[in-house]
Amino acid sequence: MFQKDLLQAKRILITGGGTGLGKAAAQRFLELGAEVYLCGRRQDVLAATEQELHERTGGSRDHKKIHTLPCDVRDAAAVEELIGAIWAEGPLDVLMNNAAGNFLSRTEDLSLGAFQSVIGIVLLGTLHTTMACGRRWLAESRGGVVLNITTTYTTTGSAYVVPSAVAKAGVHALTRSLAVEWGNRGIRMNAIAPGPIPTEGAFSRLLPRPELAEAAKKRIPLGRFGTTEEFANLAAFLVSDGSGYINGDVVTMDGGEWLQGAGEFTALGRELTEEEWQRMRPKKSAPKA
Ligand code: COA
Repeated sequence: MFQKDLLQAKRILITGGGTGLGKAAAQRFLELGAEVYLCGRRQDVLAATEQELHERTGGSRDHKKIHTLPCDVRDAAAVEELIGAIWAEGPLDVLMNNAAGNFLSRTEDLSLGAFQSVIGIVLLGTLHTTMACGRRWLAESRGGVVLNITTTYTTTGSAYVVPSAVAKAGVHALTRSLAVEWGNRGIRMNAIAPGPIPTEGAFSRLLPRPELAEAAKKRIPLGRFGTTEEFANLAAFLVSDGSGYINGDVVTMDGGEWLQGAGEFTALGRELTEEEWQRMRPKKSAPKA
């Protein structure tokens, strides 16, 4: 899909890069020539991912292009230390804010700690890394690219995932605000709003019974879930120079799921029989003499 050197020499940090969508993006970025820094909370997960990516991308240990650094993005001081350590080796070109936390719960059952945990990871985590990189890019008068991962429910909200909805709405606002405030100094800021894409972590948490997956697919016009490869390709485009004039946008990647839910007549139309459709067509008038 892309030229093999699309991301040659780009230095990219992916938060939550040890698993799921972050790991898939890391693989694609490596295949396209980038050097990746992956952070996550668990050192053992990061180490296993590093090994797996080396094997999959044929990376050579002599020219190390994968770096893994444990960090909890909720901790502003730890993030500052992480970004400082990366910058000591050279400035980043791209920051991909992918780290997230979410759980399905009735809101009245949630503790304050549950809200703090999800908002801390998703919103404050994104803020911490963005400020740490943004301030450096601005001070050095160099450009940078930020890619945030939001959701399709940032503007509608969603029942049963309220901490996530609140936090992702904040990331959406941050993306659009800073795209304007920092755009004139060479920093581009965009987001991807993915719909359902099967990954080990998020899917087992958000679809507790396997048969719910079939019901979920019926909500998607394309009739299937997205793939991590499709996600990674979109991410590669948005962090590449090829998308250099896209700034402040959110690209939805959900097979049309949220629009299907939003259209007033969609569900009704699906219920109608062929006979009913025919009955509603205009009566053919007699040909004019
Ligand atoms: N339902 C309701 N509350 C929950 C919960 C659940 N499934 N899981 C955790 N919480 C609450 C805890 O009770 C705790 O609140 P309390 O201190 O008031 O009791 C708070 O959230 C923090 O829980 P903790 O166990 O300390 O987790 P954490 O803060 O280290 O990590 C997550 C929280 C969300 C990151 C954790 O669930 C996780 O690791 N998830 C995997 C990543 C993920 O969710 N990926 C999906 C991305 S879409």
